[in-house]
Order: sequence, then C-alpha cells, then structure tokens
Amino acid sequence: MTQDSTSNRMWGGRFAEGPDAVMEAINASVDFDRRLARQDIEGSLAHAEMLGRTGIISDSDAAAIRKGLLTVLSEIEAGTFRFSRALEDIHMNVENRLAELIGPVAGRLHTARSRNDQVATDFRLWVRGQCDAVHEALGALMRAFLGQAEVGADLVMPGFTHLQTAQPVTWGHHMLAYVEMLARDRGRFADARARMNECPLGAAALAGTSFPIDREMTAQALGFDRPMANSIDAVSARDFALEFLSAAAICAGHLSRLAEELVIWSSAPFGFVQLSDRFTTGSSIMPQKRNPDAAELVRAKTGRIGGALIGLMTVIKGLPLAYSKDMQEDKEPVFDAADSLMLALAAMTGMVADMKPVPERLRAEAGRGYSTATDLADWLVRVAGLPFREAHHVTGALVRKAEEKGCDLAELSLAEMQEVHAAIQPEVISILGIDNSVASRASYGGTAPNRVRSQIRRWKEELG
Ligand code: ARG
Repeated sequence: MTQDSTSNRMWGGRFAEGPDAVMEAINASVDFDRRLARQDIEGSLAHAEMLGRTGIISDSDAAAIRKGLLTVLSEIEAGTFRFSRALEDIHMNVENRLAELIGPVAGRLHTARSRNDQVATDFRLWVRGQCDAVHEALGALMRAFLGQAEVGADLVMPGFTHLQTAQPVTWGHHMLAYVEMLARDRGRFADARARMNECPLGAAALAGTSFPIDREMTAQALGFDRPMANSIDAVSARDFALEFLSAAAICAGHLSRLAEELVIWSSAPFGFVQLSDRFTTGSSIMPQKRNPDAAELVRAKTGRIGGALIGLMTVIKGLPLAYSKDMQEDKEPVFDAADSLMLALAAMTGMVADMKPVPERLRAEAGRGYSTATDLADWLVRVAGLPFREAHHVTGALVRKAEEKGCDLAELSLAEMQEVHAAIQPEVISILGIDNSVASRASYGGTAPNRVRSQIRRWKEELG
C-alpha cells in the first residue's frame, strides 16, 4: 500500500494532510481567542510601560513597543489585520505583527512574562467587561418591568400555584417579582466581578520572575484592585470564569421562567397578554397564528448557558496545577454563554417593554376557580373568631356547595351559606370580590396596590 508522504504512518491513512495540519487544527485557538485582541494589547501596553519604568527595558524600547502595539490595535479594529493559524493564538499573532512593524525590539515585550499569565490576564479583563455589560442589560430589563408595574399597579390577575388558580394578585406585583429576581442576578455578577478583580500578570509561567517587576503598577494600570498573591494560583485559576458562568446560568434560568410565562400567557386559551409584532412570527400555513418565537428561543438558550457551566467545570476538574493546555478550552463556552445571555436579555427587554396585558381576560380569570376562598376563610377567623383550620374546613364545604350548584362563591344565597356555618353574615359577599381581595393583602411584600406602588417608588430610586 502506498502511503502519502505527508500523512502520519501510524494513524494518517484517512487524513489528506499531514500531522502538522491536524496538530494545527487542534492546537490553534486564534479563530476564537481573537476576541481577546483588545485585552491582549491593553495588557501588553501596561506590561511594556512597567518594564520601561522599572528600567528592565530602556525607555526608547518601551516607547517603540507602545507605538507598535497601538498600530496593531488600529489594524485589528479596522479589520485589516491578517490572523494566522500557524501563529496559534492571539498572543503570538499580535507579537509577530509587532515584530514586523518595529523589528527585533518587539522581542523585549515578553521579558518577565509568559503566555500563561498573559492569557489569564486577558481573559479576566474580558470576563470583567462582560460582568459590566450584563449589569447594564439587566438594568434595562428591570426598567422595562418597572414600566409594566406602573401601568398595572392595581390591575387584578390570577396568581397561580401549580399553575392552578390560587389567589388574585396584581399585575404590578407579578412584574416586580421579576425585578427582585433580576436584582439578585445583578448582585451575583457584581460579587463575581469583585472577586475576579485581581491581576495575574507578572506570575509569568507559574513561579514568578527573576526580573524586578512592579506588579502593583500593572495591576493598577489595568484597573485591578491588586496583583494576585500566588503565582501558581494566578495562572491556574479559572473559577472567575466559572462564577461568571454560574451567575449566567442562574440568570438564564430566570429568563427561561419568564419566557415560559410569556408563552403560556400569549396562548389563545389564556389570552393574558399580547406580544408585539416585533418579537413574534406568523405561521406559513395557519394565518391566524402569532408565535412567541423570541420567548421560546430565550427559553432554549438556557440549555447552552447551563451547558457552558457544566462543560468548563468538567474541563478544569482533573487539572493538576499550574497551566495545562486544557485551559485553552475555557474560552468558547464563556464567549458563547455571554453572547447568548446578552441576546436573551435584549430580546426579553424588548418583549417586556412591548407586551400589552389584556385587563378583561386577567380580571375574568382572577375571579374563577374560587380564588377568593382564602379571603372567606380569613373573614371567618377575623370576624367569626374561628380557628383557621376550622375556617378552612367550613370554606371547603362552601366551595363544594358552589361546585355542586355550578356557581361562584358569591352567587350562593345567604341561607345556603348559613346552612354550612351559622356565623356567616351578608357582608362576606364584599369579601369575595377580587379587588377587595388584593387590597386586603397589604402585609409587607404583599400584593395590595399600595404596597406595589411603594415598591415601584423604591426601585425607581434604586435604578435612577
Ligand atoms: N492559547 C493559550 C490558551 O488560551 C495561551 C497559553 C499558552 N500557554 C502555553 N503554555 N502553551 O490557553
């Protein structure tokens, strides 16, 4: 059998190209880590400046490197930079171009540095930037909810448990429930950001360096709070990315619950909301349809984002300290999760801002299913002095009676009610109304319109 001279003798039979091409395919990361270009150059600028100021390289070399790096950056931003897979990753692509531009002095940039601390720094800067972007995007979604809460502070709708009509609530209250959830999401990203804001640069390969570098200076230049205290940890740690992904996965879970509600609410049998044309599509065969595609896709993105978290946790779980090439696989899941989350947040912000609650439908359903039975039980406790368990039992008997008659609780006659319990008075009828019901739930955190309005004021102040 003849053997293609470029393919590997042991396993190259099915490869048209030689092992070098396969190695390049598995090894090169520039196709995705080019997204770190800006951070890579920022890190190099800070490092070169520090090398110059500490006298490790001359001021003129530092200045030449700086000028060259800015040119590389402008080429990348203009889209004229030629990325080469043969140069493996973004770090070597940038350095190679720098050498083309300024000659051998470019080689001095890598003094007291390794790609290990370089990539750790670049990636931290990128993830930190994403924390800020997500913070902004969450703020926009929270504001959209706040707008909905304001227009429907006293709009009554059914509240559900088990997706069974439970008790009437207000639209504003339901909207503010999401504001609370999203605020905690923001808090998680802020916590992760604060913890990740330490600088790995200067850890070099893993052990530090023999050059008299100033790590405080580079940390400060890059907006970090301090340099990381252990060089081995600095190049090994990826928990900052995991924290970002876990915050993202939890947030995506929240968006998915919201998406699910929008899918249910906008369905014809519910008819609770109308989604705008901007975020729905028609069916090619059924002209009457308006499909909540954007909500469905947000619900689905949760799978990729959670998958990214599990994926990266699995990548790092068996790695000995310090750097291993496995860690190059940290970037794609984080990029994908960040992109997916930002897109999901933008879609949800548009959908929530545009959606129109349908008051007639919400009110009609709010009163169904004996939703004010608890109000009746509470009245029996408050006015007739029954223990709650007994009141619950009496109310249950009244619900059964109404069910048998096929009517609402309020449609039972006083005599029918008194057959069940003699203490029942005519005034209970007003208790059974849905507006009364929500207004009465004025405990702190409750659904009463007054409570909702004061929470709206609080959030408006907080969000500015
Ligand atoms: N492209 C590599 C990564 O993303 C950069 C670090 C390479 N370090 C090394 N020792 N080979 O992880």
